[in-house]
Amino acid sequence: MTRTVYVNGEYLPETEAKVSIFDRGFLMADAVYEVTSVLDGKLIDFEGHAVRLKRSLDELQMAEPCSKDELLEIHRKLVELNGINEGLVYLQVTRGSDGDRDFVFPSVDTKPTLVLFTQNKPGLADNPAAKKGAKIISIEDIRWGRRDIKTVQLLYPSMGKMMAKAAGCDDAWMIEDGYVTEGTSNNAYIVKNGKIVTRPLSNDILHGITRKAVLRMAAEAQMEVEERLFTIDEAKEADEAFTTSASAFVMPVVEIDGVVLGDGTPGPIARRLREIYLDESRKAAI
Ligand code: PDD
Repeated sequence: MTRTVYVNGEYLPETEAKVSIFDRGFLMADAVYEVTSVLDGKLIDFEGHAVRLKRSLDELQMAEPCSKDELLEIHRKLVELNGINEGLVYLQVTRGSDGDRDFVFPSVDTKPTLVLFTQNKPGLADNPAAKKGAKIISIEDIRWGRRDIKTVQLLYPSMGKMMAKAAGCDDAWMIEDGYVTEGTSNNAYIVKNGKIVTRPLSNDILHGITRKAVLRMAAEAQMEVEERLFTIDEAKEADEAFTTSASAFVMPVVEIDGVVLGDGTPGPIARRLREIYLDESRKAAI
């Protein structure tokens, strides 16, 4: 299957899309990204992703490649051109290139690089993995101190995922000073005595768009939520646990470092939140 992708104003077959070898995204990981899910051919929480993208760009003094309306149009056109019913739209903005490698940023009028492509994922909402629940390991969080900026520096999270696979698990939660920061590509939650606990927003974690929506929906459903630090030991004693992300929505966690949570199946709160999130998000999709 040859996808149609978007590169700097053009819609092209994926085999013909090109970016300079001097692009700072390639040489320096000087780039930010967003992943927006698609259900029923519509975008989930496009507004949230667009706002966070602007924030990431501002934090790095990177130019906006185009307006929010233009971004929406590109997302929609790619979804349509590639016939995506369920899947993801990946967007990346880099600081571009002035034709050489240099640690110093190129001049401010250097054109940013804008790349978008779709990932077709039939069955994304009805994912069998969500019915089984994820097994996770804990690993040390050795990432940089601005995890609130959604940069493409994903080598350590990628290594974390590989460490999880090597241990026969699905994913890893990262630990700093004894406390859980987040998953390799998701925000982390535990549930104890009916109360949902998740780490508060700071520079230590990504401000998940799914997190924001899920916490709002949990409050609307009269669920108790506490935003505070929690340790991995506390997580192992929790009644249930789960993660949230644009690519996996609400994903129940059933095992942490070999310790089985509850009866080893997805907990009722995680299951309910997944249901509510999918329902509400489909209704609000554009
Ligand atoms: N990852 N924390 C990290 C480190 C992430 O990479 C992500 C998203 C999240 C959840 O954010 P959101 O709910 O906005 O997707 C939290 C995306 C999906 C990815 O890298 O593919």
